[in-house]
This record gives sequence, structure tokens and C-alpha cells, in this order.
Amino acid sequence: MTGFSRQGAALVCDGVPLEPLAAAHGTPLYVYSAATIADRYRAIDDAFGGYPHSIHYALKANSTLAIIRLLRGLGSYADANSGGEIDVARRAGFTPAQIVFTGVGKTTAELGYAIDLGVRSINVESAGEIGRIETLSRERKVRTRIALRVNPDVDAKTHPHISTGLKINKFGIPLGAVSELCGQMRGRPNVEIVGLHAHVGSQITSMEPLARATRTLVALAARLVLEGTAIEHLDIGGGLGVSYDGSPVPGALDYADAVLPVLRESGLHVVLEPGRHVVAPAGALLTRVVDVKDDFVVMDAGMTELIRPMMYSAYHRIEPVMLREGATAPLHIVGPLCESSDTLGKDRAIARPSVGDLFAVLDTGAYGSVMASNYNRRLMPAEVLVEGSAARLIRRRQTVDDLLALEF
Ligand code: LLP
Repeated sequence: MTGFSRQGAALVCDGVPLEPLAAAHGTPLYVYSAATIADRYRAIDDAFGGYPHSIHYALKANSTLAIIRLLRGLGSYADANSGGEIDVARRAGFTPAQIVFTGVGKTTAELGYAIDLGVRSINVESAGEIGRIETLSRERKVRTRIALRVNPDVDAKTHPHISTGLKINKFGIPLGAVSELCGQMRGRPNVEIVGLHAHVGSQITSMEPLARATRTLVALAARLVLEGTAIEHLDIGGGLGVSYDGSPVPGALDYADAVLPVLRESGLHVVLEPGRHVVAPAGALLTRVVDVKDDFVVMDAGMTELIRPMMYSAYHRIEPVMLREGATAPLHIVGPLCESSDTLGKDRAIARPSVGDLFAVLDTGAYGSVMASNYNRRLMPAEVLVEGSAARLIRRRQTVDDLLALEF
């Protein structure tokens, strides 16, 4: 078992004790297990086995350079959601052909950048966007590869803020409009439709919506081929969830079992865009107690380092790094910010801690550091990657000078 576990009373990451890491680098501190990332990446890769597939890790989940370099080393490609993410992917060594570009509001500048690079595919969200890509490609005398992001009207049964595949959501082209759009695009010299794409939501723990969206893409591709649009790949997005409370959830094998039989009917190459499933359990946020009063334990990390509890009422396990003896009582674990909703966990049964005690907020490798902010002029936390028995700093803590370097 890789990742975070107990050695006696102490919480460790791949056998490396966390308390010395916090002492050396300060808190709040993100710590990641390279072995967990590798295991989870390989689990997906293995589950799809011999079926033609490519994994484009979704950078939005965590794009710290050392982490995406690690994934690239494992054979991953990249899913970028902005010009910035394309740039970061390039700097991590991904080639344009290894990048798919997704996003509901790509600017003309971002589209131009992706077109100039010649990315594997731009996953387009509307007829208007296709028009903009066509104009930009004509000016450049190139043919751009696009995949149509289809809104399959599938309920992902996840938190409404991270559900994307319903008609009411802002994402994708309505299913019913795709055939006509492809008809209009046939034979156009500057845009080539090479794929279909669907991403119906995130933190999905029921395989049924993922299978249903895949079935929709397979049926649509078959129809388009008959109508004269050759489809090369189906991009079934990301979305595979993780367990935040320790209860069992479907894993990579269940996912492959749900979608592979459907994909086989098409024989088409499949593109996967997992984010959370690969990195969430690989990360923990270390934070120290700065005050204890009444039922509140005030930490030195809050919504600025981890916004998920506040934004989605997300549950993360919060554990003392050194287990303490003593009776437990439900306490609220809160952050230091001037917001009542700045809470990491409510009613957590823990032994009453002392100021200075170190805690770990678990499963924060995805959508943790990437969603951090400077609210209250707080500084971005440092990040450490544990590789084997060694730990190295992969992002230093931000300074006020770093912050003010942008200002005049
Ligand atoms: N592909 C596309 C087009 C996406 O929009 C996303 C995530 C992914 C792939 C990766 O999805 P994953 O495998 O990580 O579920 N901040 C939220 C999650 C937002 C997800 C947005 N899109 C959270 O903290 O739960």
C-alpha cells in the first residue's frame, strides 16, 4: 500500500514521517506520494489493457510541474483547459500531439495558440467556436483537428456544481444538433472533425452515467460514419471518483468493465481524461493548530489552501499526524480567514488538540493547490513530493515579494 498510513502513532507518506517535513518546510504544506500517483495511473492504463487508448491526464486537477513531469514519464498525455495549461504542459515536455484542448470559453488568442502548435485535437463546444477555428485556420492555411464536445443529457448524479452533462449545463453541443453540424463541415478544407467528446461530470461513483454517455458517443459515431464523417477517436472525458470517507467506490477496473464492452462495438481509439482519480488520494494538506477555543480548532490552513469543503460542502478526512490519547469530542476544524464558511470539517470526533499540533487533510491531491488563492494576502503553500524514501520540495512557499512583483 502506497500513500498515507500509520507507523505506530505517526502518520507517514510512503514510510516518510510527516512531522519532520512540516518542521523543515513549514505549514500549510501539500505533500504528495509519487508512488500513489504511479500506481493509480498504471491501474487505469492496465484496466484498458490492449484496447487502443490514450490517457490525457486532466491538468486542472493538479498541474504542479513535478507532478505532470512524473505523469509524462509514466506515459501520460495531457488535457489542457486554458492557454496557461497548454503552456505549462509544453514546459513539462508534452508535445503538441500529446495535448487535447478543452474548455467552454476559449478565447481567440488561446485558439490561435493551439492551432499554431497543432494540438492533437481541440474539443469544441459550439458551432460558433468551430467558425472561429475555421477562420483562424484559413488565415494560417492549416487544417485543424477538432472533436465535438457533445452534451449527452446524462445525469452524472454528482454534486450539481461539478455536473456537466445535462442539457441545463453550459457545456457542449446538444446531441440533436451534431449530425447536421457535421454535414455542414464535410469537405471543409480548414477544419477536420476527428473525434467526439463527452465529459458528464466529476467525482462520479456510479458507473451507469459514464457507460451511458459512452454508449451515446458510440451510437453517434456509427451514424456519422454512415453519413460520411470519419471519426478517429472517442474522448470519454474524466470523472471517475474517489472515496473521501473510506467507503468502497468503483475503481479503474470497474470503470473499464463499464465502458470497454460499449467501446468495443465501435473499435475506435478511446481518449481518457482522468484527473481526480489519479491524484486525489496521493496528496495531503498539512496544517498546524493555531488556536483552540470552545468547539473550534483554528488551523493555519483554510479556504485559501483548500476551497473544496466550502465550495462543494466536500468531506475530507482530517487526522492528527501524531495520534493522541484521550477522549474524543466533536470539534469544528476551521481556517484562519475572515469568513464564517472558512471551515475544513464540522463535528469531527478528535481528541482535543494543543496549539502547534499537526494535522493532515487527506485526499487533497486533486483540486487542492490548483484552486488556492491569495485572499487575505495569504501566500501559496509549499509543496513536497515523496519519491521512494526521499522527499523533495517541488514548489517553494510564495513570498510577499512574489505577490507584489505583479503590482506597480
Ligand atoms: N475533462 C474535462 C473536460 C473536465 O472538465 C474535467 C473536470 C476533467 C476532464 C477531469 O475530471 P476528473 O477526472 O478530475 O473528475 N473543482 C471540482 C472539480 C471540477 C472538475 C472540472 N472538470 C472539485 O474540486 O470537485
